[in-house]
Amino acid sequence: MKRKAGNDRPYRRLAWLAGLVTLAACGERDTAPAGPPPLTAATLGDQDIKPVAVYLREAPYATADAALGDRLLLQCRSCHNLEAGAGHTLGPNLHGMFGRRVGGAPGFGYTRALSEADFVWTPRALDAWLEFPQRFLPGNAMAWPGMRNADDRAALIASLMRRTDTGEAPASGGSTGN
Ligand code: HEC
Repeated sequence: MKRKAGNDRPYRRLAWLAGLVTLAACGERDTAPAGPPPLTAATLGDQDIKPVAVYLREAPYATADAALGDRLLLQCRSCHNLEAGAGHTLGPNLHGMFGRRVGGAPGFGYTRALSEADFVWTPRALDAWLEFPQRFLPGNAMAWPGMRNADDRAALIASLMRRTDTGEAPASGGSTGN
């Protein structure tokens, strides 16, 4: 059947729209790849809790970009002190946070989301928290959108470990993730 030239237009527009929809669908697949579900506070399970010095010798932290990490850490410093004894600001002081139980900085008024959670801060837990804080532990009050780039998070976590390390072994009894 022969179609009049003028009738082609709506079809062309439809094809263009279909292309857009396909593009959007591909984009969605890129941000939500099929694979294991994202790690959350509830699915951390048993964790390998080690001294900070050991984590810093392991991948990906051993080779992380320190200058990049220090620069990214400025974002955290607007709400967190990192030095021992520096007190709390908008968020709790993070000194000694690795190997410590969530919600464990003495004297900070945590939300119930944090004070009732039960896990120990490891680089692995922090990585999941920093990727998407509200997905990792819904209901927390950390007004920060998260950092989607894994290399950026590794650099930031390595710098944070260097700056908050007490040099002591993690407290005993902290060997589980829940
Ligand atoms: C806008 C302020 C703000 C920024 C920016 C921010 N935080 Fe927070 N953070 C908070 C608050 C407030 C809490 C306590 C949340 C609660 O009680 O629900 C918190 C809690 C935390 C905790 C849990 C501490 C504990 O004792 O269990 C960690 C870890 C943490 N933040 C790390 C970071 C890191 C790393 C960054 C930088 C990437 C960052 N935060 C940026 C405000 C902030």
